[in-house]
Amino acid sequence: MESLALKIADKSARVAVIGLGYVGLPLATGFAKAGYPVLGLDVDERKVAALNEGRSYIQDVESADVAAMVRAGRLVASSDYDALADADAIFICVPTPFDAMKAPDLIFIEQTARGITPRLRPGQLVILQSTTYPGTTEEFVLPILEESGLKAGQDFYLAFSPERINPGDTQFTVENTPKVVGGLTPQCTELARALLAQLFAHVHVVSSPRAAEMSKLLENIYRSVNIALVNELALLSERMGMDLWEVIEAAKTKPFGFMPFYPGPGVGGHCIPVDPYYLSWKAREYDFYTKFIELAAEVNQAMPYHVVDLVAQALSRQGRALDGAQVLVLGVAFKRDIDDARNSPAERVIELLLSRGAVVSYHDPYVPRYRVGRDVFHRQERWLESVPLTDEALAVADCVIVVAGHKVVDYDRVLRQTRLVVDTVNVTHGQRGPGLAEVIRVGAPLPEHSG
Ligand SMILES: NC(=O)c1ccc[n+]([C@@H]2O[C@H](COP(=O)([O-])OP(=O)(O)OC[C@H]3O[C@@H](n4cnc5c(N)ncnc54)[C@H](O)[C@@H]3O)[C@@H](O)[C@H]2O)c1
Repeated sequence: MESLALKIADKSARVAVIGLGYVGLPLATGFAKAGYPVLGLDVDERKVAALNEGRSYIQDVESADVAAMVRAGRLVASSDYDALADADAIFICVPTPFDAMKAPDLIFIEQTARGITPRLRPGQLVILQSTTYPGTTEEFVLPILEESGLKAGQDFYLAFSPERINPGDTQFTVENTPKVVGGLTPQCTELARALLAQLFAHVHVVSSPRAAEMSKLLENIYRSVNIALVNELALLSERMGMDLWEVIEAAKTKPFGFMPFYPGPGVGGHCIPVDPYYLSWKAREYDFYTKFIELAAEVNQAMPYHVVDLVAQALSRQGRALDGAQVLVLGVAFKRDIDDARNSPAERVIELLLSRGAVVSYHDPYVPRYRVGRDVFHRQERWLESVPLTDEALAVADCVIVVAGHKVVDYDRVLRQTRLVVDTVNVTHGQRGPGLAEVIRVGAPLPEHSG
C-alpha cells in the first residue's frame, strides 16, 4: 500500500483508463494534465488511432490537449490489454446498458474484468466507474478479479467511484465536480481517495462500494422522478390553460427547498432512462418493487407519444392530416448543445411520426446521421441524415418540432420561415405575432385556451 501511496503522491503512479468514451477520455486527459503517465485502453481501434494522432472525438475534450499530452508522452492509447501490466491504478469506464427486457447488461464490465484478471499483479488498484446496481463491485467484479489467485484488500485494491460527468457542461467539469468513492476495505478506500484527490477538488468517502454505487443511482433517480413530476404537471397545465414554464420561473425564486426541473419530449442519454432500471431490477431480489422508478419511467416514456399527438392535433386544426405531412425535427441529440443522441426521445418521436404516415426529416448541427426504428416497433431500421436548415426546408415543412433546443439554431428565423412549430423545450418562449408561425408549447396553453 505504501509504495502505491508514494507513487500517487509523487505523480509517478501509472494510471490506466479502460473505455475511452464520454467518461473515460476526460478522465484520462485529466490525469495526464495533472502530470501522471496515462494509458488509455479501448477495444475501438479508431478511437485508439485518433488519440495517438492527437485527435479528440469527444466534444468536451480539446484535440489540442490530447495532442499536447501525446507529444509529452503522458498519454498513450492502446487496444492491447497486455499494456495493463505496467499500470498502478486501473479505472473501468465501459458502458452499462440494459437488455431488451430492461435488465442490466454487464457484458462490458465482465469482458473488462476478464481482461484485467490474467494481468493483475500485487499492489494494483482497480476502480470501477461505470454506473451500475449496488453490489456490482463486490458480487460481480471481485470474484472475477480473484480468479487471478490474488486477494482483494490484501494483494490488490478495489473501489467504486461513480462518474458525474455532464456532457456539454462548461461550468461543472471533471476538475470542479466533487467525487464520491467507496472501497472494499479502508486501505482500498484510502488509496482510491488519494488518487482521485489529485484530480478532483473534493472527494467524499463512503463506507463501501455499494454505498457509492447507490449514491449514483439516487442522483439519477432523483432527476428521473422530478422530470416526471414536471412532465405530468405539463399535461395538466395544457388542460388547465396554464403556462408551466412561467410557474416554474416563479417557484424557483424560492431560495431554499426548491430546485427547478423542466418538462420536455421525454428523457434520453445513457443515464436517466437506463440507470433507474438497474436498481428496480436489483430490488426484485429483495421482494421489493420500486414504484417511484416505474411511475417516473411511465410518465417520461409517454411524452414522445404526447408530442406526436400535439402535432397531429395542431395539423388537424389547420385542416391537415399527419398522414402525408412533412415534419422537420429540430435537434435529435438527447439534450441541447451536445452531440450524443443515445436513447434520445427524438427516436421515439420520429418512429411514431413515421408509423402515422408523416414524411420526416431532421436537422441537428451536432448529429450528422441518426438511426431510428430499432426496437419495440420492429420496424425496419433506417438511417436519416441531417438536412441543412434552409429557408426552403422550413417553408415546405407542415410542422417543425423542436426536440433538442440547441443554442446555435436561430429560432426567430424558424418562427418567421415556417407555419407551425411544436416546441417541447420552450426555446420560443411563447413568441407570437403576425408573420410568425403558430407555436404549440409542451406545458403551455393550447390554442383553444390562448384564443
Ligand atoms: N456519458 C455520460 O454522461 C455518463 C455520465 C455518468 C456516468 N456514465 C456511465 O459511465 C459508463 C461509460 O459511459 P460512456 O458514456 O463513457 O460510454 P461510451 O460508450 O462513450 O464509452 C465507453 C467506451 O468503452 C469501450 N469499451 C467497451 N467494451 C470495452 C472493453 N471490453 N474493453 C475496453 N474498452 C471497451 C467502448 O469502445 C467505448 O469507447 C457507463 O456506465 C455510463 O452509465 C456516463
